[in-house]
Amino acid sequence: MIPLLRASEKLPIMATVRLFATLPKKLLLLLMALIVVVHSEAANTNNVYQPCADTKIQRSDGFTFGIAFSSRDSFFANQSHQLSPCDRRLSLASLNSQLAVFRPRVDQISLLSINTSDFFPDAFGGYMVAFAGRKYAARSQPAFVANSTFIVTSFTLVLEFQKGRLQNLYWKRDGCASCSGKSRSSYVCLNNQDCAIRTSSCRNRGGNVDCSLGIQLTFSGTDKHLSALNSWYEVKNLRQYSLYNVYSNLRDSLTGQYNRFF
Ligand SMILES: *[C@@H]1O[C@H](CO)[C@@H](O)[C@H](O)[C@H]1NC(C)=O
Ligand SMILES: *[C@@H]1O[C@H](CO)[C@@H](O)[C@H](O)[C@H]1NC(C)=O
Ligand SMILES: *[C@@H]1O[C@H](CO)[C@@H](O)[C@H](O)[C@H]1NC(C)=O
Repeated sequence: MIPLLRASEKLPIMATVRLFATLPKKLLLLLMALIVVVHSEAANTNNVYQPCADTKIQRSDGFTFGIAFSSRDSFFANQSHQLSPCDRRLSLASLNSQLAVFRPRVDQISLLSINTSDFFPDAFGGYMVAFAGRKYAARSQPAFVANSTFIVTSFTLVLEFQKGRLQNLYWKRDGCASCSGKSRSSYVCLNNQDCAIRTSSCRNRGGNVDCSLGIQLTFSGTDKHLSALNSWYEVKNLRQYSLYNVYSNLRDSLTGQYNRFF
């Protein structure tokens, strides 16, 4: 049996407190995160616990990053260039936004989950950006999560490091592969890119599908000792959905979408 660790055991409360002190006050912390760590435990050497700070990692370290939810426009300055959510010029704080913080273990395949029973992303602009760092700020492009009609619940995020420094975060699309075999009354392929659920099928919105978000993380590039981070390679080489078997302990906390693969 593969040992599974829960996020709450890995993310010290202190990190939360410091985050509140350094991030704009109104950017509320959404810490309903569940982090699953596959493989064995090893020592953490990264003592940076907040997402808007710079660090260099090695394999087996914890790594803290954030995901901000807001409207697409609010991630851009002057509607032209995208800034990191850590950049105060965006003033995400005064806008309608939410923040989730995660601390997965580097180079291990993790599945993050955000419970949407009390948090519905369309109420906060419907887009999300993953980010970390300040001087060396990296951020993903905004990904569509939800509007009043549709919600996308399954994502893959790649964190790319060079010599231990985060360089890039990007969303890996599956071209709607996860839509195949699903009921057309509930699932829709949006823009040949994302398999979305009609919000009317979600729990709390008149339906019975659990529309919690699941974000599968993978790591690529090199750590500060130039060791290769291989979890992305592993994902590519596994059949896409066989990976969900390793999360079978989470059966009850995942979206209905994943359940059919167990
Ligand atoms: C946005 O535009 C204003 C006025 O043109 C300029 O002063 C400001 O520096 C710009 N902001 C950014 C982040 O580029
Ligand atoms: C929701 O997003 C989808 C896909 O981008 C779009 O087709 C639809 O018109 C949007 N619905 C609303 C109410 O904005
Ligand atoms: C989300 O939270 C609700 C209420 O606390 C709970 O009933 C539900 O099982 C949770 N869903 C997930 C995916 O954890």
